[in-house]
Amino acid sequence: MSSIADPAKPRFTTLPPLSLYVHVPWCVRKCPYCDFNSHEARGDVPEAQYVDALLKDLESTLPLVWGRKVVSVFFGGGTPSLFTAESIDRLLGGIRARLPIMPGAEITLEANPGTFERQKFAGFFAAGVNRLSLGVQSFDPAQLRALGRVHDDDEARRAAESALMIFGNVNFDLMYGLPNQTVEGAQADLAQALAFAPPHLSFYHLTLEPNTLFHKTPPPLPDEDTAADIEGAVHATLARAGYAHYETSAYAKPGRACVHNTNYWQFGDYLGIGAGAHAKLSFSDRIVRQLRWKQPKQYLAKIAEGMPLQDETVVSREDVGFEFMLNAMRLTDGVPAAFFQERTGYPLAIVSRALDAATQKGLLVADPQRLCATELGRRFQNDLLELFLASKPAKAVRLVAMEATGVER
Ligand SMILES: C[S@@+](CC[C@H](N)C(=O)[O-])C[C@H]1O[C@@H](n2cnc3c(N)ncnc32)[C@H](O)[C@@H]1O
Ligand code: SF4
Repeated sequence: MSSIADPAKPRFTTLPPLSLYVHVPWCVRKCPYCDFNSHEARGDVPEAQYVDALLKDLESTLPLVWGRKVVSVFFGGGTPSLFTAESIDRLLGGIRARLPIMPGAEITLEANPGTFERQKFAGFFAAGVNRLSLGVQSFDPAQLRALGRVHDDDEARRAAESALMIFGNVNFDLMYGLPNQTVEGAQADLAQALAFAPPHLSFYHLTLEPNTLFHKTPPPLPDEDTAADIEGAVHATLARAGYAHYETSAYAKPGRACVHNTNYWQFGDYLGIGAGAHAKLSFSDRIVRQLRWKQPKQYLAKIAEGMPLQDETVVSREDVGFEFMLNAMRLTDGVPAAFFQERTGYPLAIVSRALDAATQKGLLVADPQRLCATELGRRFQNDLLELFLASKPAKAVRLVAMEATGVER
């Protein structure tokens, strides 16, 4: 056996931190702007069968993560809060019995205010969920109607109040650039959110995604200048209120950045179970990406056959630099340069030409110890990332870019 390492393959001495993502693919109703892998729950959701399938899915993947501890768990969707607290308890109990979760690990569950019951939230907490991510979107009743949400502003406020009381560690998802929104309207909306002082806010610019109702029949959205003004006003207000803008769309009070999403952005590993879930796993000599069957029915059938994977690919040396930067450049402070070797298994030298070009163009901070976009690099992120693109087909770029949002679509 040769002792000379193959330069085409990565080499890991220690593996990156590992997170677990669990996808729940149903919602009360499909929102007209949303292209996540979420399906309207017509009739009964096969909840117990799905929990069984998730545990079977996890079990079949265990040999790939043997001996590794999980730093965070994220129940995302869809709408995981559609499930009963008993199901989440059984699921989390089943996960703990199969996979070691670090003591004190962040365990987040996404909830829609339209599924809110105090008792249920208390049940999620008792089951071990210690962070709630609430899909508020807006506190303006007219906007909630325009967005086709299943809840009104009163329900959003009640859910927010209870979430903060029960979990303390809470995120609100909010969107801006909403139909007919003005700067004043957006500021008034944000003021309502800030009155709750949530430790974390995710602030997304509403985008028209292909295959959505809004894409087919767009609502009257604010023009580019107004959207930019809203963004500027929102950023300033959040900074004054003590939130650090630590990632493209994420704001946190000190010490409250999302551990799970930060692990994605720092090119950590993640196991993803459930319909359409993605995984990225490192081994001593390769990085593997997995995709599970997307349609809930198909997923259940394939799990029963013992075939959870729709696709599995090895990340190539040509692609890994781009994939790393796509994630890391979302972080305002970037990452330590040493993370490149630690998390990709390749020396930083494989992207030295792109790094030099990006620094020369003023898109990357000139600091050998950190990989961090300049303000210009953040504004023109596509130009920055393009420099790291080898010859990736557009479709693959889109797949990875969506994953990098930290939620599966
Ligand atoms: C999986 S959902 C969160 C929880 C839950 N399903 C809900 O909506 O209440 C993730 C978040 O992505 C955001 N989102 C979805 N579609 C979007 C779009 N087209 N543009 C911007 N943000 C979007 C929303 O803020 C949403 O809360
Ligand atoms: S935004 Fe949330 S509730 Fe609405 S369809 Fe998407 S995942 Fe479901």
